[in-house]
Amino acid sequence: MNTNILAGKVVVVTGAASGIGKAVAVQAARHGAKAIIVSDLNAEPREGGRSTLAEISDIGVPARFHRADVSQRADVDALVEAAEAFGGIDVMVANAGITAKADGFDVTEEDFHRLMRVNLDGTLFSAQAAARRMKASGRAGSIVLMASMGGIAGAGITVGYSTSKGGVVLMAKSLADALGPDGIRVNAVAPGTIDTHLLRTSPGIAEAAEGFRRRTPLRRLGKPSEIGDAVAWLGSDLSSYVTGTALLVDGGLLAVI
Ligand SMILES: NC(=O)c1ccc[n+]([C@@H]2O[C@H](COP(=O)([O-])OP(=O)(O)OC[C@H]3O[C@@H](n4cnc5c(N)ncnc54)[C@H](O)[C@@H]3O)[C@@H](O)[C@H]2O)c1
Repeated sequence: MNTNILAGKVVVVTGAASGIGKAVAVQAARHGAKAIIVSDLNAEPREGGRSTLAEISDIGVPARFHRADVSQRADVDALVEAAEAFGGIDVMVANAGITAKADGFDVTEEDFHRLMRVNLDGTLFSAQAAARRMKASGRAGSIVLMASMGGIAGAGITVGYSTSKGGVVLMAKSLADALGPDGIRVNAVAPGTIDTHLLRTSPGIAEAAEGFRRRTPLRRLGKPSEIGDAVAWLGSDLSSYVTGTALLVDGGLLAVI
């Protein structure tokens, strides 16, 4: 469905070449964004197929690719500056995230720190860079952090990943308090099992996905575009009194035992 709820908004999305980030950027275009900055390590989707920019261009919304490694603060600062070409950032979607090659009780120190560098440092740097620019320009803004159902409920197969995503949920709540007085809202989205390259290729998670699907009240995996729609709502003024929340988009999985 196409709407105009993001009319006038300049949207920046990290990790937007693939999967959920790609769908967030494309849905932002379908929901009427003024312009979109698509950011990732590389422009090409991990899962193959057409690039995010090609899909947005079909919709007719101005967009450009800006390479940024979110774990590098200078990259993310430059990313936010790139939005000035369209009039400045209104919505930051800190979506980039990774899983570990081998997670769980035995997660290695190297994998654990890598998870924290991308999922926590990268998310914090993205939020800070966006909020500094929003404050400087004196305009209200919306920052959406990509958490996970694995950041709300734990799992033995995702000790490192869940630790990082639990941190993202509390980061959203804490930043909401810090930035609310400036009119900047900060929320997290917590996807359930969404059919992406990350889900299909993450050891442990890929095998568990079928079990999750069977327990999910809606009895199916989520589509990346369904996360894109939730993010569009949080980025828009329709959610103007919503801040500091973690919105589960999981087909009801965490509602049941
Ligand atoms: N797929 C799911 O079921 C699911 C569930 C819950 C949460 N999530 C979260 O959603 C987000 C997107 O996941 P996805 O399934 O689309 O994964 P994905 O692997 O398909 O896409 C992630 C994108 O992030 C990019 N990326 C990785 N490290 C980066 C870095 N350092 N800097 C910039 N970009 C980087 C990758 O290049 C890739 O394009 C992640 O934060 C993930 O943890 C996914």
